[in-house]
Amino acid sequence: ELGENPHYMLKEIFEQPEALENAMRGRFSADGSTSVFGGLNISVQDLRGMGRLMICACGTALHAGMVTEYLVERFARLPVECDHASEFRYRNTPLFAKTLFFVFSQSGETIDTLAAMREAQRKGFQVLAINNGVGSTIAREANGGIYQHAGPEIGVASTKAFTSQLIIGAMLALHLGRIRDMSFRDGTEIVSALKGVPDLVRATLKQAAHIKAIAQKYAGFNDMLFLGRLELFPIALEGALKLKEISYIHAEAYPAAEMKHGPIALINEECPSVFLVPQNEIFNKVVSSMQEIKARGGPIIAITTSDAELPEGLADDVITIPACHEAVLPIVATIPLQLFSYYVAVERGCDVDKPRNLAKSVTVE
Ligand code: F6R
Repeated sequence: ELGENPHYMLKEIFEQPEALENAMRGRFSADGSTSVFGGLNISVQDLRGMGRLMICACGTALHAGMVTEYLVERFARLPVECDHASEFRYRNTPLFAKTLFFVFSQSGETIDTLAAMREAQRKGFQVLAINNGVGSTIAREANGGIYQHAGPEIGVASTKAFTSQLIIGAMLALHLGRIRDMSFRDGTEIVSALKGVPDLVRATLKQAAHIKAIAQKYAGFNDMLFLGRLELFPIALEGALKLKEISYIHAEAYPAAEMKHGPIALINEECPSVFLVPQNEIFNKVVSSMQEIKARGGPIIAITTSDAELPEGLADDVITIPACHEAVLPIVATIPLQLFSYYVAVERGCDVDKPRNLAKSVTVE
């Protein structure tokens, strides 16, 4: 099954263009302005009547939920709350009646996510699942949902199942937007951005050798920060989680502007920062966070978009991803982070596919 690949993780990173295509197949309307899902089991009128979206998940799946939160709020103007499934199940949060409830789970067997779903069902909510495990417990007990069709993921660190959840989250945001105030024109723009993402991912994967060289340069550090804003803040969280999981480097993620409220005390020559700095409305703000790090001697790796102009010499190393629509930027920006953590872990001699202390699905509390 591994073929030419040294590890399942690398194989699965490179399978992402197909996994993204599989997530989208048959799921756009004939007029090309929205997404359609066959298994939501909820009428468009009921969906239109929802006043809130609540998402529960764990780990990487929670990061996909957090990106979905940004996109649903932006495209559908529907308030969203995202929670750790393990917290939701015990904190007894008051729930507004017209709440659309989603759980995200790649395996469909994560006990805390399952328990959060059962708790919401006990309170009378229909719970929908975004899930990759056909026939899993969560898939069977959910009131409806969306299958990812990403294919089996063997590597313990989730890669293609994550980006597959991101694209489904973006499609959900589009769907919810189009039954509210999003225009036909804005819908068609997002549909074409979504359809283009497999090629953008292919183009980004071609930079593997460049990313490997950068990873080898930084593999000896013991602490790293990942910084991003807006829909790339959860991607920074995911970048840090991936690095921790497989390379055992201590990594933390923050919204870039949060640095000055404490984490900046960590910065010195021994603590590199990975900045996600796309061209957008707050590009200059992220650049000034980079300057604060630079002034304190912190090495900087920048992941930026092809339409951005970073000040000369600000970053020590730069990875440029294609400029793209905000609906798909989180997906494209994830690719270099996956490759970076993979090559760092390989350089450190770690068992990439079976990191210590971790299991593929967490079926104990
Ligand atoms: C990290 C990872 C985990 C899972 C989490 C939830 O790479 O895979 O953080 O995302 O354990 O698992 P699922 O998605 O199966 O519910």
